Amino acid sequence: MPTFAAVLQQPDFPVSDFLTELSRRRTFAIVAHPDAGKTTLTEKLLLFGGAIQTAGAVKSNKIKKSTVSDFMEIERQRGISVSTSVMGFEYRDLQINILDTPGHEDFSEDTYRTLTAVDSAIVAVDVAKGVETQTEKLTKVCRMRDTPIIFFVNKLDREGLDGFDLLDEIEQKLNVRVRPLSWPIGMGQRFKGVYNLYEKKLVLFNPHGKQEDEDLIVFEDLSHPDLEKHLGESAARTLREEVEVVETVYPEFKKEDYRSGKICPVFFGSAVNNFGVKEMLDCFVEIAPTPLPRDTEERRVLPEEPKMTGFVFKIFANMDPKHRDRIAFLRICSGKFERNKNYRHIRLEREFKFPNPTMFMASRKTLLEEAYPGDVVGLYDSGNFKIGDTLTEGEILHFKGIPSFSPEQFRYVENADPLKQKQFAKGLDQLMDEGVAQMFTRQSDGRRIIGTVGQLQFEVIQHRLESEYGAKCRYEPVNLHKACWVTSDDPKALQEFLDRRKRDIAKDKDDNMVFLAETAWTLQTVQENFPKVNFRFTSEV
Ligand code: G4P
Repeated sequence: MPTFAAVLQQPDFPVSDFLTELSRRRTFAIVAHPDAGKTTLTEKLLLFGGAIQTAGAVKSNKIKKSTVSDFMEIERQRGISVSTSVMGFEYRDLQINILDTPGHEDFSEDTYRTLTAVDSAIVAVDVAKGVETQTEKLTKVCRMRDTPIIFFVNKLDREGLDGFDLLDEIEQKLNVRVRPLSWPIGMGQRFKGVYNLYEKKLVLFNPHGKQEDEDLIVFEDLSHPDLEKHLGESAARTLREEVEVVETVYPEFKKEDYRSGKICPVFFGSAVNNFGVKEMLDCFVEIAPTPLPRDTEERRVLPEEPKMTGFVFKIFANMDPKHRDRIAFLRICSGKFERNKNYRHIRLEREFKFPNPTMFMASRKTLLEEAYPGDVVGLYDSGNFKIGDTLTEGEILHFKGIPSFSPEQFRYVENADPLKQKQFAKGLDQLMDEGVAQMFTRQSDGRRIIGTVGQLQFEVIQHRLESEYGAKCRYEPVNLHKACWVTSDDPKALQEFLDRRKRDIAKDKDDNMVFLAETAWTLQTVQENFPKVNFRFTSEV
């Protein structure tokens, strides 16, 4: 594996430009339970970065519950999602890439995959609601990969949980260690601002305006009597006491601990009031990691390696029904990506070059000549890519860690129009490549079962099969609790299990063996009876 030093010694490699570009990249996602303020926070960050000029420019890509069956809405959301896939801006000479994630929890698998393409994450939490189900799931996915996390506790302009209680809840429910880097002064009607513990600044809340520089007061020492002047006696006393507790209870903040995923800094604010956001951004640009190394099945790939490598983590198909093309989103992991250069598609064992690589940036679409590690490139594709595919300059590598999660809802899917069998099969195949849902083929009878994380996907599949492929599908109920991938170090034990449970065995789209458990009890029983078989609830593609 080439080391940093070896890269520097490559004779014709424009090392300095490349390394400068690499070190300028910060690629992250903002994730949250719906309604916690992800869209608002994203918008404020883009405003600071000058990527947008007005509030309201970032469309929420949320599909509200009331519009579950409104397919025009789903199409509109797909349009928004493709154009906001990456929202990039320059801030303090850094290139910041925010990768967008879907707003509806039924699409959370898409979010999980996007999290494999980032180097850090910001998790927004509503101060009144605390840790919600999606916060738990999404943080768990970040923790599986030790992705550095910053928490942004939002909506301090409303009444909510006490700061310490909220931090306890985050630590307990999410199994993380936190370290507040700002501290709220009151909340709701009594919200006066935050004390920025990182920069030792008092930031006063001005509910009706932009945060101005005069709202910032530097306080190296909180015992200074001027604190009362700004906050009043009672709030000043509480702040002193609470900050003292913070400094004693929570560990000292160390950048390395954050970067290794050991500690999560926490900021407090109110995104809609543009308050506390700049504090977080200014800290983020100082501490957030540059593009991180990525593991492949063969070896670890370092971003500074001169040869281009990347993987596809997201696919959008049939955005324009007249042209059956798709856009595959490639995260660059090492080297410089160049337009019209030949790259090896490892799964297909073929060379490809891309005349029109595109950067989708907050509703702007630009043709790009080159891209660097941390960047995301949109590649026009006529059906050659699947999620998880790797591109390199020739070396055989397979990037690890794009997870598929065990679905939670299942239905048999059948072709409802015998004259359109071909279109039905192709449509299903392509939608699965895109990662809309998972499909399992039961080995005993060849029936296809669609597994999803939410109800909405079944409707999306039906609608898209019809409108994009001219095919019709019908669902039938199937009584299933979980699908889990089965493996074993002992081939005999695995075979015995597969023979004994023939009726419950299926294959996923990559021919991996899957056990279909009808109930939690069945699952528990087989786990006990077949101790040499591993039952996994995630699979990496
Ligand atoms: P999401 O993407 O995480 O789903 O959340 P989003 O930003 O859409 O915010 C959800 C709702 O919370 C929005 O209100 C938004 O205005 C509000 N919100 C965001 N940040 C704050 C905050 O700091 N304080 C308060 N009080 N509210 C906040 P909405 O009524 O759903 O939409 P809208 O009509 O305001 O756009």
